[in-house]
Amino acid sequence: MTKIHCFDDIYIKLLLPEDVTEEYVSWINDSETNKYLVTQKTSLNECKKYVLNKYKDNNTVFYGIYHNERHIGNIKIEKIDNKLKCGCLGIMIGNKNYRSKGYGTKIINFFCKYSFDTLNLNLILLGVLKENIRAIKCYLKCGYKEIKNINLVNSKIVNDYLIKYKFINDDERIYMILVK
Ligand SMILES: CC(C)(COP(=O)(O)OP(=O)(O)OC[C@H]1O[C@@H](n2cnc3c(N)ncnc32)[C@H](O)[C@@H]1OP(=O)(O)O)[C@@H](O)C(=O)NCCC(=O)NCCS
Repeated sequence: MTKIHCFDDIYIKLLLPEDVTEEYVSWINDSETNKYLVTQKTSLNECKKYVLNKYKDNNTVFYGIYHNERHIGNIKIEKIDNKLKCGCLGIMIGNKNYRSKGYGTKIINFFCKYSFDTLNLNLILLGVLKENIRAIKCYLKCGYKEIKNINLVNSKIVNDYLIKYKFINDDERIYMILVK
């Protein structure tokens, strides 16, 4: 798979089932990490199936994040809606040694710009648990704003997107948005 250079020694590449390792599986099964994720538990086979499904899904782009040759996490845009020109961001820096050092901010900055350009999107949303302070701080640094706090020119599009993909408002999560 083609490597896409992000910055310094960091690159991303589309993930394939053969890229799934026990180390990657261990990130998902780690309680400190999965408390912030949708998936809470997996096995090598389940994880390979998950990656294959994402690879085949026309409305998803799912990349591994690599430092030199080392897989350190994943980043994706899913629920891509070509009509509304909207998608939803997900990121996990699985290797804890790479967290809170500014990598997340730099990778998201690169990846959102790259996705706006290559996927023809105007808006990239995300959902995050309110208790995930580190993630929220990172998203704010990348220019994300909490949806309910802003008066969007695109508010009808955002509303349609939230309804279509069943982003349900709850007390635990906030939704944020980045505009091209
Ligand atoms: C969320 C995530 C992508 C952020 O990437 P990162 O590289 O760790 O983030 P950054 O270092 O760029 O920015 C994090 C900021 O939060 C701060 N921070 C870290 N831990 C914190 C804490 N416990 N309380 C308050 N701030 C904290 C950092 O100091 C940094 O802010 P600063 O640059 O002003 O100092 C990464 O930590 C991760 O993958 N976490 C596990 C999975 C996850 O939560 N995914 C997101 C699901 S929505």
